[in-house]
Amino acid sequence: MAAKDILVVGELNVDLIMSGMPSVPEIGKEILAHDMTLTLGSSSAIMASNIAALGAGTSFCGKLGSDYFGDYILGELQGRGVDTTRITRSPNHKTGATVVMNYDQDRANVTFCGAMEALGLEDIPWDNLHEFRHLHLSNFFIQKKLRNDIVELFKKAKSCGVTTSLDLQWDPAGTWEFDHQACLPYVDIFLPNEAELLALTGSHNAEEALRQIMPHANTIALKLGEKGSIGIRGDQRTEMPAFKIAQFVDAIGAGDSFNAGFIHHCLKGATLADCLKHGNLAGALNTTAAGGTGAFADRATLEERMQAILKNGSK
Ligand SMILES: Nc1ncnc2c1ncn2[C@@H]1O[C@H](COP(=O)(O)OP(=O)(O)O)[C@@H](O)[C@H]1O
Ligand SMILES: [Mg+2]
Repeated sequence: MAAKDILVVGELNVDLIMSGMPSVPEIGKEILAHDMTLTLGSSSAIMASNIAALGAGTSFCGKLGSDYFGDYILGELQGRGVDTTRITRSPNHKTGATVVMNYDQDRANVTFCGAMEALGLEDIPWDNLHEFRHLHLSNFFIQKKLRNDIVELFKKAKSCGVTTSLDLQWDPAGTWEFDHQACLPYVDIFLPNEAELLALTGSHNAEEALRQIMPHANTIALKLGEKGSIGIRGDQRTEMPAFKIAQFVDAIGAGDSFNAGFIHHCLKGATLADCLKHGNLAGALNTTAAGGTGAFADRATLEERMQAILKNGSK
């Protein structure tokens, strides 16, 4: 593929993961973790590095602080083949970080947003945007500045002849202030998971939520965890079961990997069914290693791993 298939716009942070803790920490006391990993975090960065791993020419637009975590993130993205020339460094902000405390299957997270909150419309490379085929934005709610201009962002991208996609992700504030009627007409592919779609629409089930959203959306790819995904485009509706996983590790970033597989195949001109299948495949692959990018190795290994999942079949 060409060097400029996709521009991912979004948040950047490191994840500092503490695991193997005997209990939940208490104020005034200290507990010991058995392991610790510093890794590339953030939904947008996971999506960008995994779509690059699948073979798409990928560039990232985001903001980092002028600090060590910023250097680390740049190095990680570059090491995964993502073009980082559109990432700016702020002298006035710290790079975002999430402390993840893993307890068995679940985890408690604390995030400091830092520089990601300063990313704005002025940081988008408008003069060169037409050189990209697609623009993807993830994690709307925690990008305090850019979220105010979301409609403008997608409208302008469309006017540059670029196709668009959006993964809102969860709203930590719980307000779900997103004007879907104004924004979704400019979003070619909307990529929520089930819990997010229910919270956004205030619905009790997915069908009711889809009935509310579809009049405003173009294509929707609804992620349903181990149940797979549903795609709707106009009158066309396709349900795609998830793949069987021989060894499930964790689902951190599965939705971002789904986005990578789905959009990568959209850019190849695949059918809705094929895009869903490859979204599910990338999501399934994601769950076979720790974190969001662990399973996405070099191209040959990646191909081998995907073939093994394809052979195993769907659930
Ligand atoms: N346990 C699983 N087994 C197989 N596939 C899975 C599993 N969990 C997730 N996936 C795949 O990853 C996709 C995205 O996962 P999901 O948990 O729905 O998204 P998110 O991470 O946004 O919550 C699913 O649609 C599915 O295709
Ligand atoms: Mg998600």
